[in-house]
Amino acid sequence: MSARRDMILSPEDFDVIAKLAYRESGLQLVREKSSMIQSRLRHRVNALGLDDFHHYTKLVCSEAGRPEVRHMISALTTNVSHFFREEHHFRILEEKIVPGLNKKMKSGERVRIWSAGCSNGQEGYSIAMTLLKSIPDLHSFDVKILGTDIDPKVVAFARQAKYPERLITGVPQDLLNLYFEESTESGDRVFTAGDSLRKLLSFNELNLLAKWPMKHEFDVIFCRNVVIYFDLETQNALWPRFRQALSRDGYMFLGHSERINDHQHVGFITDGPTTYRPSAKN
Ligand SMILES: C[S@@+](CC[C@H](N)C(=O)[O-])C[C@H]1O[C@@H](n2cnc3c(N)ncnc32)[C@H](O)[C@@H]1O
Repeated sequence: MSARRDMILSPEDFDVIAKLAYRESGLQLVREKSSMIQSRLRHRVNALGLDDFHHYTKLVCSEAGRPEVRHMISALTTNVSHFFREEHHFRILEEKIVPGLNKKMKSGERVRIWSAGCSNGQEGYSIAMTLLKSIPDLHSFDVKILGTDIDPKVVAFARQAKYPERLITGVPQDLLNLYFEESTESGDRVFTAGDSLRKLLSFNELNLLAKWPMKHEFDVIFCRNVVIYFDLETQNALWPRFRQALSRDGYMFLGHSERINDHQHVGFITDGPTTYRPSAKN
């Protein structure tokens, strides 16, 4: 069947899809973005061989359409990321946090870092490079970086860790030489994270709105450029959960346009640009 580019997502179908996306993932889809949503979902309608968006809407609202909801959410998420994005956080990590983590791991304790909403893995691998730069014998200790995302496609990509040239920007040449292997695929340069990075990371699918299965506290949580897609109610429900997941002397980073609403109330103090720590009394 040939791809149909003339299909229109009606305002009624948009509303149904927006409600479903909100319920399933917290994503807030606004009417002004309707044409973007339409183009993101068009390939799903075509892939399923459906006639129009109305049939698609009916499918995702039905029991038989449950598996498609995952694809729908995957198509609706914005996965833009890059290595060492918002570089100031990596400076804080290196200068303020790593010395304490170093001490902790060398005294035999575990160190855990979470990239929540990790997209294609650039954030997690940037964290790993920052740690390795300062602690070359990092692999001798109990250190793990977890990357999670609702979108199974990016989780699979992050696990594969194979970045085309356009996605590797941001990695300084010396780190690229040290931690990535370069190859050529169909004439294009490709950079694959080497074992020293990969050993430190694991990636899993996780919807932040669902139950979090992790048992241990995190020393550092990066949740950057994720809650910006959520409304205030969804954000407010997440902050106490992040506080709970963070160790008493931990750090949490948000994206540049994100804030913890009423942070003192949920047990955080600010400690740098979009940088939070648990307050002492909590
Ligand atoms: C713009 S990317 C941010 C990537 C990275 N943290 C950064 O700052 O570059 C946002 C990511 O959040 C994920 N996301 C959106 N809703 C989510 C949810 N409910 N649970 C988990 N991840 C979610 C998306 O799939 C997407 O990969």
